[in-house]
Amino acid sequence: MAVFSEEFSNGIPFMDNSAKRFITELNKLSDAMKNGEGRQYVIFALDFLKDFCETQLAFENKVMLQYYFYDNPNHIKMHEEFRESVIDIIKRYDEFGADHGMPLNVQRMMSSWLARHIGKQDKVLGDYIRVKLTKKEKA
Ligand SMILES: [Fe+2]
Repeated sequence: MAVFSEEFSNGIPFMDNSAKRFITELNKLSDAMKNGEGRQYVIFALDFLKDFCETQLAFENKVMLQYYFYDNPNHIKMHEEFRESVIDIIKRYDEFGADHGMPLNVQRMMSSWLARHIGKQDKVLGDYIRVKLTKKEKA
């Protein structure tokens, strides 16, 4: 089970709250899989991911632009690639339903995003925004 901790926190409330929700949704999928209900449940995880891309990642993109984040293009590209992989799986679900491997694929995709993006790239962005906010307070 994934747990929200320092590892996934960057001190920016809208991002920390989103990371917590992401972990909760990943754990719900993992629990369903443990109970042998992964194929029935996976659509709920996909619904969450679609909304996550459309609201959270889109908002993060706006914030990055607003603060002139130096790694903007690269970070936005990572969001876009994630969104595309979510859309691909949803298309597959709509066409063929959930096959045996789909819950595990989605679980892996979420775990990897949590470790590699939320736990790393978003921390870099969080550090940058925090510095900007501190400078603003001093000015
Ligand atoms: Fe991000």
